[in-house]
Amino acid sequence: MPLSKILVLAGDGIGPEIVAEAVKVLNALRAEGAIDVALEEGLVGGAAYDAAGDPLPEETLEAARVADAILLGAVGGPKWEPLPISKRPEKGLLGLRAGLGLFANLRPAILYPQLADASTLKPEVVSGLDIMIVRELTGGIYFGQPRGVETLPTGERRGFNTLVYTESEVERICRVAFEIAMKRSRRVCSVDKANVLECTELWREVATRTARDYPEIELSHLYVDNAAMQLVRAPKQFDVMVTTNMFGDILSDCAAMLTGSIGMLPSASLNASGQGMYEPIHGSAPDIAGRGVANPLATILSVAMMLRYSLGAPAAADRIEGAVSKVLDQGLRTADILSAGMSEVGTGEIGDAVVAAL
Ligand code: IPM
Ligand code: MG
Repeated sequence: MPLSKILVLAGDGIGPEIVAEAVKVLNALRAEGAIDVALEEGLVGGAAYDAAGDPLPEETLEAARVADAILLGAVGGPKWEPLPISKRPEKGLLGLRAGLGLFANLRPAILYPQLADASTLKPEVVSGLDIMIVRELTGGIYFGQPRGVETLPTGERRGFNTLVYTESEVERICRVAFEIAMKRSRRVCSVDKANVLECTELWREVATRTARDYPEIELSHLYVDNAAMQLVRAPKQFDVMVTTNMFGDILSDCAAMLTGSIGMLPSASLNASGQGMYEPIHGSAPDIAGRGVANPLATILSVAMMLRYSLGAPAAADRIEGAVSKVLDQGLRTADILSAGMSEVGTGEIGDAVVAAL
């Protein structure tokens, strides 16, 4: 296996704590020769703003461009909320996604059987849950122009953003979803708001047209409000879901809670050349930052996705996922997934336990 360069961007809040545990896992695999990686660190988000006045310094973007994969913790926090949007930590993350063309965001929501009791939904509703949300990540209302806040002649202010998708943007994300579904149950649900938004009426049309190239795929469509309802009513009806940037943002948080905790969900953001950024789907959790209680498993599972999708090391990825499962079997839990009879441990203990279970 050739040497792979990994850029590690810890970011803000709990970012540094959870990334440290993921790095422990990478280092353990490297020490035994299972993977060949070189880690480099960089600044992004509020940490980068504080150090360099920019949430995405040119140096970080350049390092990201030449890396084989990027491991990111989380960005943001109350400290930076007063800043203009263009300087906010989130801009760093969005800049990386756009700058690297990471249009395909894969967010698997898998319920570990050991956590069936940690979900706020009844165990029978969520047990066996295994959904893949494919979120478009570099278009839609997150990036559409025009955007801003203007002052009208009356003195009243008016804020505006634009939801925009080209046919090719819709087609390429649908293809990613269809390819993934071909290795699963071959069912894809495309989520839109075609009854109200022209842009997503086009989305539905292009999804339908693209599906003709995949005759084995069974494509269905749902309006996003219904999809949100179905996710909490009967989530197991879903296999692969494909949707816009903003709908995917919302639905993936919703799906995360089905699995017990948002602290369990990893993600991969891929571009056309297979380069990827890997991060937990949760945020920087400033309320618990620095206390050593955050759940590092989403970040550790993001490393598994990195090994599988960018580094061509599926066996090592399997081992990480197996180790996470073993740690859950041992009854070790961070506060977010704690249930009766389990032992509460901190961020570092979970990381150590995963390394030991590898
Ligand atoms: C996510 C996050 C980000 C997003 C924020 C931090 C900009 O919520 O990755 O889901 O909205 O995409
Ligand atoms: Mg989100």
